[in-house]
Amino acid sequence: MAAIDVQAEIVGRARRVLPGGTFGNFPGDIVIREGRGGRVWDENGKEYVDFLLGSGPMLVGHAHPEVTAAAQARIAEGTTFFANNRHGIELAEAIVAAVPCAEQVRFVSTGSEADLYAMRAARAFTRRDKILKFEGGYHGMSDYSLMSLAPKRPGNFPQPVADSAGIPKSLRDEILVAPFNDLEVAAGLVREHRQELAGVILEPLQRIIPPAPGFLEGLRRITAEHGVLLIFDEVVTGFRLGYGSAQEYYGVVPDLCTLGKVIGGGFPLAAIAGRADIMAHFDRGAVGDDGFMMQVGTLSGNPVAAAAGLATLAILQRPGAYEGLFATGRELMETLAELLKRNGIAVQVTGEPPLFDVVFGPEPVRDYRGTLRGDAETLRRFNAILRERGILKGEQKYYVSLAHTAEDVRHTREAWSSAIKALTA
Ligand SMILES: Cc1ncc(COP(=O)(O)O)c(C=O)c1O
Repeated sequence: MAAIDVQAEIVGRARRVLPGGTFGNFPGDIVIREGRGGRVWDENGKEYVDFLLGSGPMLVGHAHPEVTAAAQARIAEGTTFFANNRHGIELAEAIVAAVPCAEQVRFVSTGSEADLYAMRAARAFTRRDKILKFEGGYHGMSDYSLMSLAPKRPGNFPQPVADSAGIPKSLRDEILVAPFNDLEVAAGLVREHRQELAGVILEPLQRIIPPAPGFLEGLRRITAEHGVLLIFDEVVTGFRLGYGSAQEYYGVVPDLCTLGKVIGGGFPLAAIAGRADIMAHFDRGAVGDDGFMMQVGTLSGNPVAAAAGLATLAILQRPGAYEGLFATGRELMETLAELLKRNGIAVQVTGEPPLFDVVFGPEPVRDYRGTLRGDAETLRRFNAILRERGILKGEQKYYVSLAHTAEDVRHTREAWSSAIKALTA
């Protein structure tokens, strides 16, 4: 008797009630049933080594017993209050203790919101309107952030290209766009627009592209010189590149940062953190009606998410946590690079050990246009073949977890070897 395809039935139901059959995040042809450690299972029971990791939050692995226990204990005592709760306050304290720029914290529920408010805080503080971002930089889904995130036909710098329908044309005047890793262009724009520029926002590790030596330092210098705020979007890199996040890892401290993913322990929670004089704009009592930034969210600082986040941070603080994460990531990156090279495939394995991917092509990648020069079709095929062989990942990222074991690495190596054979056959 043929096995029942439970997943196909659920996929069919999804197509009827969800646009495109998905939540919008990931192709709807896979439905995940459960996750444990560094692995997930789909609704047909097929097992995968999971490098998607919920798009990053599950740094300590799925269903970690300590995170689960912390969340369950909190759930039994009520799940949301709107008023302050002890867990959220403790999480804010932990963030202030860990992240160099964080003197104060405001919680929200998603990274998109955090980025939107960080940009607004920069405007409120400087009383200027424009924001400079980098082409290909991801800062969530707001009208401002969806400028030149992934333009198919990139325009002339610094003109932004809207990535979505429904964005007012007038907003194009409020965003300037520069190429990542080109300090000269960015510095020139900061100088030219200093009277109207509120902030520069960037992912310190832009998707999988590391900052070139001196780039972050140069941005820090030029923004400080002109009273423009430097905002690091650390939604991905926060607590992933190190306990002090990318700003500690790369040694450059911004004025504000945004955090998400890891700090919610797998629940919806994100934050804006930074200098107290800027964060004061969330406090009407401190800045008065004129400077006050209205900001309220029903689930902000949610106690279940905060308890799960605190349990996650406690695990990350243990001796050897990041050494282990980096060792696993380094082994994976080196293995993949070696296997591809051995098969004569021109490829760049790029990123940092906790987060990387490949770009098929002979040239090192320094910016968004560099990724466009990569062979996207080969990457798509490689990912699809890997999926068949039990490797789950996002389109352009391997997220590494503390929970990935030597056995997971071995399985991944075998899957890569066999996928490369299939790719070159
Ligand atoms: C760098 C970065 N910023 C912001 C966001 C948005 O976060 P969220 O999906 O929680 O809105 C993401 C999401 O992946 C991200 O990668």
